Amino acid sequence: MPGLFLCASPGQGRAYTVPMLWVKAFHIVFVTSWFAGLFYLPRIFVNLAMVPPGSVAERERLIGMSQRLLRFTTLLAVPAVGLGLWLLFGYGFWQSGGWVHAKLALVALVLAYHYSCGRLLRQLMAETCPRSHRWFRWYNELPVLLLMGIVVLAVVKPF
Ligand code: HEM
Repeated sequence: MPGLFLCASPGQGRAYTVPMLWVKAFHIVFVTSWFAGLFYLPRIFVNLAMVPPGSVAERERLIGMSQRLLRFTTLLAVPAVGLGLWLLFGYGFWQSGGWVHAKLALVALVLAYHYSCGRLLRQLMAETCPRSHRWFRWYNELPVLLLMGIVVLAVVKPF
């Protein structure tokens, strides 16, 4: 079929196919949306850590926002990872070089970060979180570094 095979792939000597490009396009859409949540959630934590004692309504509003955003961000992570795994095993990318394994190691760190957001939110809700708003500002930078590393590995494939 014309246009089905576009160029040589680094994975298993197979070709990039049009269906694979659709899977990849939606992989990128869901990854982008997932990261929007991972960037915004800790910003709400910064505000939560700055709520003065006694501001119950403000605290509840921020906790409600965080809970809804965490739920939605988790829903977005599922297709992002699922479509990534489809690319990995469905199109043989798992054999395409060291970059895939390095990328998967960084993705594992993203999942750990996502999990830690849920854990921190539970601590903030129970008012047992020892972290300051300054700590949350630094914590908020981690997904930026992970995103840069993963995108460079996926696009440049340096090894
Ligand atoms: C379990 C999770 C994931 C798996 C298994 C996975 C796997 C893959 C695979 C096999 C490709 C195809 C590479 C190619 O076409 O050359 C790909 C593309 C891509 N992935 Fe992922 N991925 C995952 C998560 C992520 C995350 C978290 C990000 C971003 C932070 C990301 C960003 C990208 C980008 C930007 C591309 C396009 C690369 C290109 O076309 O040049 N992926 N992914």
